[in-house]
Formats: sequence, structure tokens, C-alpha cells
Amino acid sequence: MQNHYRLYGRHKSHPLKPRQARLVDKLLPELELKPDELVNGSPERLFAAGAKTIWLEIGFGGGEHLAWQAERNPDVGFIGCEPFVNGVAKLLSEIVAKSLGNIRILNGDVRPLLECLASTSISRVFLLYPDPWPKRRHHKRRFINQDTLGELHRILAPGGELRVASDIPDYVRWTLLQIRQFEKLNWSAEGPKDWRIRSDDWPTTRYEQKAVREGRIPTYLTFTSAT
Ligand SMILES: C[S@@+](CC[C@H](N)C(=O)[O-])C[C@H]1O[C@@H](n2cnc3c(N)ncnc32)[C@H](O)[C@@H]1O
Repeated sequence: MQNHYRLYGRHKSHPLKPRQARLVDKLLPELELKPDELVNGSPERLFAAGAKTIWLEIGFGGGEHLAWQAERNPDVGFIGCEPFVNGVAKLLSEIVAKSLGNIRILNGDVRPLLECLASTSISRVFLLYPDPWPKRRHHKRRFINQDTLGELHRILAPGGELRVASDIPDYVRWTLLQIRQFEKLNWSAEGPKDWRIRSDDWPTTRYEQKAVREGRIPTYLTFTSAT
């Protein structure tokens, strides 16, 4: 796999606790997904117990949403991508605590993995609270752009969903403008309750709880792949 992308943001903060470090050393290599494994084949075969369909979470942070979804959807194979190793360690603890057998992890940038995923192989993508990069000169770092939308649309099955959450009004506006320009993903909202109220199958995340505590209002956007 060639990684020609530049990744901004942190990869590591405080040192891992000894138990977390052991999980990263011992369990992560068992669950780690190498993008090359995705070439020439459907991702379902990468799950020991098999999987009816595959969902992808990009930037899972501490993994609360991913572990919640994996526990409630045992027939789904989950691919989670997160460059921040402290977050990966938190998810590994949840995997052990809940005995989850349907998660594979990429501890890194999702973009090279997107390139390796077969077309229409994913039925749901979660992108929750992508880094907002508020300064205008950093907008080109924002995850949502025409290139990544092109890749997300290519890997999504027809009718597949892209779920995006953000607490930053400018990032919400940016996302809707990018989607309108892209044209091949439909925004399925019919009224404000669709973007103001989190549906029952959409749990909160650590980042969201902090945003709400600090007075910011989350927006929930669901886009559907047209063809
Ligand atoms: C603001 S945090 C949100 C974390 C989590 N989704 C939540 O809601 O708690 C954004 C996350 O995206 C991750 N991220 C940024 N760029 C990424 C990329 N290219 N591929 C995968 N993850 C990425 C960051 O490491 C960070 O953990």
C-alpha cells in the first residue's frame, strides 16, 4: 500500500497504561487490517465468523460508537480506522470487555484503505465529528472534499448510507455544499428533527458529550448513495 497522503492531527498523547500497552502489543496485531488484504476480494471474508455486510467507521476516537454498533449488529463486519493509538487502545479494551468478534482495525489514515476497498462493498460509513480545521487556510485538510466523497460513493453499495455528525456550524455548511456539488449522494432529511435529533441506532460519542457540555449543538446528517 502506498500512502501518499499527509495526515494532520495527533497520533499519540499520554503514555498508554500497562494494560492498554499489552492490548496494543498482543491483540491489535490479531485484529489489525492491512489494506493489501482488501485487494482482490470482498471484505466479508476478513471476518473470522463471516459477515453479511460491512460497515466502516472513520476516525472512531475512543471507539464508543463502534463498540456499541458492533455489539448490537453481530452479523455486520466492522472496519474501524483511527490513527490515534490511545483511542485504538480504548477500543481494544471494549472489544475484550464485550467479547466482540466482528471488528477489524486500521491504526492509521483511512484514505489508503478506501483506495483498496472494492466498489459497492460497504453498506454504511460513519464519520462522526471529523476534525473541523476552522482556519480558512486549513480548510483543505478537512476530510470531506470532492475526492473523498468520490471514494466513499464508489465503495458504498447502492442505497448505502454515509452518516456524518458535526458540532461546528461551518463544517455542517461545508459538508452540505460539498454534497450538493458532488450530486451522487442524496441528503435524506425531510425536516429539522432529522438533523437535530439523534436516531435510536446512533449512540453518542465522547467528543459529542464534550461538545454538548460546552454548549455546542450537534447536527446529524445522513446521505444515501444514489446509484
Ligand atoms: C474530533 S475526533 C472525533 C472522534 C470520534 N469520532 C468521536 O466522535 O468521539 C476526529 C477523529 O478523526 C481521526 N482522523 C482524522 N483524520 C483521519 C483519517 N484520515 N483517517 C482516519 N481517522 C482520522 C482523528 O485521529 C480523531 O480521532
